[in-house]
Amino acid sequence: MSRSILVLNGPNLNLLGTREPEIYGRATLEDIKAATEAAGRAQGLAVDFRQSNDEGGMVSAIQGARGSAAGIVINAAAYTHTSVAILDALLACGLPVVEVHLSNIYKREEFRHHSYVSRAATGVICGFGAKGYVLAVEAMADILARGGKA
Ligand code: DQA
Repeated sequence: MSRSILVLNGPNLNLLGTREPEIYGRATLEDIKAATEAAGRAQGLAVDFRQSNDEGGMVSAIQGARGSAAGIVINAAAYTHTSVAILDALLACGLPVVEVHLSNIYKREEFRHHSYVSRAATGVICGFGAKGYVLAVEAMADILARGGKA
């Protein structure tokens, strides 16, 4: 397995399974991790799957991916809508980025319609629940097969 991708999860995603299941589904973050790793294996990609409730921890993980990962799949959760620091870290690391959300953020409250992360992302997958992570890994594999940045 030659390449590794960082799959980074933001605040409150550690609570998946019990957190507003009518919005986020019943899959736990462990379930999603297993499905994401399997999707990575199928694409020949190792998955470094992480979660942080802390904005600075996410910035550090993104900085750390520079040099060790070929791309980043990110569900920045609530920081999607607020964090210029996470956007700047994504832009600085120069890696391809796929943004993922469990819920369809455009169908929800207006404050969720804006994403800072999107400015750094090749594309966004949202509204497909846990399956979105599998789709995001497949999208990342396509981007990498095309040579990196889309
Ligand atoms: C989320 C959507 C965000 O608006 C929310 O703050 C989350 C999860 C999603 O995966 O649907 O925590 O990123």
